[in-house]
Amino acid sequence: MDKFHIIGGQRLEGCVSISGAKNSALPCMAAGLLTPGTITLHNIPYVRDIITQRRLLEDLGATVLTPELRTHKISAPQIEVFEAPYELVKTMRASVLALGPLLARFGKAKVSLPGGCAIGTRPIDLHLAGFEQLGAEVKLESGNVVARAPETGRLRGASIEFEKVTVTGTENLMMAATLASGTTVLKNAACEPEIDDLASLLNKMGARVRGAGTPIIEIEGVKELGSAEHTIIPDRIETSTFIVAAAITNGELEIRDCQPAHLTSVVEKLREAGVEIFELNQSTLLARGSAKLRARDVTTEPYPRFPTDMQAQYMALMTQAEGRSAIAETVFENRFMHASEMQRMGGRIHIDGRNAVVEGPTRLTGAPVQASDLRASASLVLAGLVAEGETVIDRVYHIDRGYEKIETKLRSVGAQIERVRQSVTAPLPSPQILANAD
Ligand code: EPZ
Repeated sequence: MDKFHIIGGQRLEGCVSISGAKNSALPCMAAGLLTPGTITLHNIPYVRDIITQRRLLEDLGATVLTPELRTHKISAPQIEVFEAPYELVKTMRASVLALGPLLARFGKAKVSLPGGCAIGTRPIDLHLAGFEQLGAEVKLESGNVVARAPETGRLRGASIEFEKVTVTGTENLMMAATLASGTTVLKNAACEPEIDDLASLLNKMGARVRGAGTPIIEIEGVKELGSAEHTIIPDRIETSTFIVAAAITNGELEIRDCQPAHLTSVVEKLREAGVEIFELNQSTLLARGSAKLRARDVTTEPYPRFPTDMQAQYMALMTQAEGRSAIAETVFENRFMHASEMQRMGGRIHIDGRNAVVEGPTRLTGAPVQASDLRASASLVLAGLVAEGETVIDRVYHIDRGYEKIETKLRSVGAQIERVRQSVTAPLPSPQILANAD
């Protein structure tokens, strides 16, 4: 398993460029299954989850061409296989996003039920209940979800109220409803910018989606969707992670190709904590750290509130802030795995169920630590950047799932970070191999 070796104490300074949003690219790629035409997606991040999604689409019978590293051309005129197998789904839960498009266009789908993961049980009961309301028959057979559209072969529009806000649940049902007969209304829908981005692609394909980005989304079904071209939004979580990197090293970073409007709650909270953040223009932020960070409480909630995907990184920052901060994680039931690793580095953190209390400022010292999930690994990189001595982070394959070449970007602004390859992990296929894979 690859490891990161980090020598802490370097002040970061310079410019970094943000990649496309993984959590928008994944559903947008799945939307390629909704049409016999071709969708062309630009600004696709070069991360492991995208490669898994590409593999899933190809296993289903779609073709995925990459004329350039960050452009994917997806065509699914024919689909022979309607199954997303356990082997793939267990490596990436977002594989369940194939369910809606397959069911809507072909009237059938079989997707392995994703088990739990490090951060929680993460059921998909709300997705399945929604498909049943669209008229599908949904059964669980030997660990698989087997879904069939009504005899007509077409789903039926319905009014669906989500018991809980769910991001991929909203995306799955929104995609399925685009080809249903009649109109679907999704209530208590998730409002993340990634949902708005997906809706924008679907509407370019000829769908009739209104209200995406608000809690009420209306989708008027159409008979068929066509080809389209779309550019994926910047990754707001990667952007926020780099703001914290500037803050925790008391550095100064110009963060380019980002979308400041998508991270209002994060910027507000970090400013409260003493981080200076300036919007230089619509796609560039300047983040400047401070020697005197202030402890501030935070509660994670669905967008537009403070994102759970920034909770771990925020905890790392709070170890360096003056005072006591309370962190409440309301979205996932088990998302403090990073805390015990930060405690190994000297962090004064107390966990009580879904609440954490951090005392600061604390002088962290480098140590061997282990990543447990994508955002936890990002928080350990941030802690390593400020810790004295060397931090060695194991299982960095987690970070490769959602951050494009983070060690290269960090090194370009002064961090002392190195990836040490261990033979067992196959490195990401090189861009040339990917391009020649067509
Ligand atoms: C999406 O996951 C993101 N993943 C996650 O990002 C993110 O943490 C999460 O939304 C919350 O913002 C992608 O977009 C690919 P949910 P998702 O359904 O859709 C419960 C990252 O780091 N729930 O909004 O799986 C669920 O257990 C990843 O990039 C049900 O109970 O999350 C959770 O407690 C990690 N039943 C809550 O709702 C359901 O059917 C929110 O989950 C669905 C969800």
